[in-house]
Amino acid sequence: MRKAFVLEQHEMNTQQLIGTAQALIADDKGLLAMDESNPTCNKRFAKLGIPQTVEARRAYRELIVTTPRLGECISGVILYDETIRQQKKDGTPFIEVITDAGIIPGIKVDTGAKDMAGHPGEKITEGLDGLRDRLKEYFQMGARFAKWRAVIAIGVGIPSRSCIEANAQALARYAALCQDAGLVPVVEPEVLMDGDRTLECCRAVTEEVLRNVFIQLNCQRVFLEGMILKPNMVVPALNCPTQESVDTVADITFHTLLRTVPAAVPGIAFLSGGQSDELASARLNAMNVRFKSRLPWALAFSFARAIQHPALEIWRGEETNTSAAQQALHHRAMCNRAARRGDYSVAMDKT
Ligand code: 13P
Repeated sequence: MRKAFVLEQHEMNTQQLIGTAQALIADDKGLLAMDESNPTCNKRFAKLGIPQTVEARRAYRELIVTTPRLGECISGVILYDETIRQQKKDGTPFIEVITDAGIIPGIKVDTGAKDMAGHPGEKITEGLDGLRDRLKEYFQMGARFAKWRAVIAIGVGIPSRSCIEANAQALARYAALCQDAGLVPVVEPEVLMDGDRTLECCRAVTEEVLRNVFIQLNCQRVFLEGMILKPNMVVPALNCPTQESVDTVADITFHTLLRTVPAAVPGIAFLSGGQSDELASARLNAMNVRFKSRLPWALAFSFARAIQHPALEIWRGEETNTSAAQQALHHRAMCNRAARRGDYSVAMDKT
C-alpha cells in the first residue's frame, strides 16, 4: 500500500517535471535570465551611473516583469533570491505579476562560483548545503524551475580534470535535489569566452565538460526528460584574432552538442555569455535554419545580457525612460523568438 502510494507520488512528480520542461520550450519561446546576483547587478548599474541600492534593483526588475506582452516570447524568467521576495510599487508580488503574464517563475539557487582550493584561476560553484530546504521554500513561493551555473575558465594548463569533475558533480547533485522538490533543473556549465583562445579550443573544452556533466547526471539518477541544459555556444573568445562566421559557429556548436547531449533532454537553452546581442541571435538563428529537421532537442535561449542590455542602457535609473526600455526589452525577446524559428535577420535589430 505504502509502496504503491510512493510510486504514485513519483509518477506524478515525473509528469509534473515533464510538463514544466515542455512548457519552458513550447511555442518557440525562451527564458529570460534576470537573476544577476547583487554584486553583478550593482556592477552593471555602476557602469551606467545607476545607484546600487535595493530600491534601484527592485525598480529595474519591476520594469522587466511588467513589460507589456513579455509572455508572447518568454516562457520563464529566472529570478534571484532578493527579487523573488520583492513586489511592485503597488504591493503586488513579482511572482504574481509573472504568473499572471503566463510566464513560469524560476530561481537561481547556487550561491556563486568561488575560488577552487589548490587550483589557481579555477572556480567551483557552491550552494549545496541546505539546498533541499531552500528548494522547498522556493517551490512553495511558486517557482517551478531552478538554475545552477558552473564556470569553466580556459587558460594555460586549465581547465583541470578535477575542476571539470567537481563542477559536473555539483551540477548533478543540484539537479537531483531539484527534481525531488518538483523543480525542473536548468543545468548551466559555462565555458567562458574571455581571453583570446580559439574556437577549436572552446570546442574541445566544451565537449569534455558536457561529457562529464552527463556522466554525473546519469550517476545521480537525474531524469533527463525533466531538465533543461544551458550551455555556452562554441565560439572564438572575444579577443581571438580569428572570428569564424556565424554559420561555422552554428555548425560546430550543433555538432558538439550532438556528440554529447542525449536526445532524451527536451531542450537546450543557450546563455549569451558576453556575445553582442545581434551575434547571439544570429548564431541561434543559424542553428535553427541549418539543422531544424535534424534536431533531437529544441534549441532555445536563456539570455540575460543579450536580452536586457539595450533596455538597461535606455533606462539608466530614470522612471521617464521606463516605457522606451520596456519596448527595447520586448524587441530583443522577439528577435530571439524569431531566431528559434529561423526567422531572425540582423535587419530586425536595425529597425
Ligand atoms: P548571459 O546571457 O548574460 O550570459 O547570462 C546568462 C546567465 O544566466 C548567466 O548565468
